[in-house]
Amino acid sequence: MSRPVVVQVAGLAREYRHGKFPVTALNGVDLTVSKGEVVGIVGPSGSGKTTLLNLIGGLDRPTRGSVAVDGVDLGRLDDGGLADYRLRKVGFIFQFYNLIPALTALENVELPMSLAGVPKLERAERARALLKTVGLEGRSGHTPEELSGGEQQRVAVARALSNDPSVILGDEPTGDLDSKSAEALMGLIASLRDARQATFILVTHDPIVVARCDRSYSVRDGKIIRQIAKGEGDKLADNQRSMMDGLY
Ligand SMILES: Nc1ncnc2c1ncn2[C@@H]1O[C@H](COP(=O)(O)OP(=O)(O)OP(=O)(O)O)[C@@H](O)[C@H]1O
Ligand SMILES: [Mg+2]
Repeated sequence: MSRPVVVQVAGLAREYRHGKFPVTALNGVDLTVSKGEVVGIVGPSGSGKTTLLNLIGGLDRPTRGSVAVDGVDLGRLDDGGLADYRLRKVGFIFQFYNLIPALTALENVELPMSLAGVPKLERAERARALLKTVGLEGRSGHTPEELSGGEQQRVAVARALSNDPSVILGDEPTGDLDSKSAEALMGLIASLRDARQATFILVTHDPIVVARCDRSYSVRDGKIIRQIAKGEGDKLADNQRSMMDGLY
């Protein structure tokens, strides 16, 4: 039985204008991601990875091509529709976690539900359950500064899941983590995929992430130039990250 397609990207292009000079950030990307897949995007700096993620996340609009999520073409949504899409259909995780410093872990997880109009009791209950899922039930009253980087990123994952999105987008989610915390985060992501068919697209420079993705794509000059199979990623992980860690 084939899984439902969650994200369908076709002929996606984005040009930015810098005075007279157009910059082609993305130049015709096709990508299909099905429910319960963890897909990686790798590539050199400036190759268009964040641009691609922003377009899928409805943070930006393409110059050409289309993004459809759960069969809805984002190009058909007005600005309000796109804001609603970002709130309900997508979860975001970032390199530096982007938690609200003045709020506790529990309140951070509640926030997107609050914006979506989920009643107080229900959102507190769901936030507690999500913190338990990410292994942080004992930390719900802590503010971000009282948590380690790995813990903050797990709160960010719980927050990303709070409105039960169709897809979770991560831009360098392990970029600020040591390799042990990166492994733990990817273990959590794999368990969310297996337990609740969560779908992830992760932009990364980290071989640990590539190793844990079901498949990855290499982007260069705004195009996907090849697919990286799972086994290939495993070899990468053994070498590069341990060499990096040896330097500290
Ligand atoms: N808002 C913008 N205005 C103009 N040019 C932009 C804008 N955003 C990105 N670009 C350009 O588009 C290209 C792709 O940028 P993008 O941020 O997608 O790269 P990236 O692959 O995420 O790089 P990195 O690994 O450094 O994060 C770059 O040449 C960048 O300078
Ligand atoms: Mg980027």
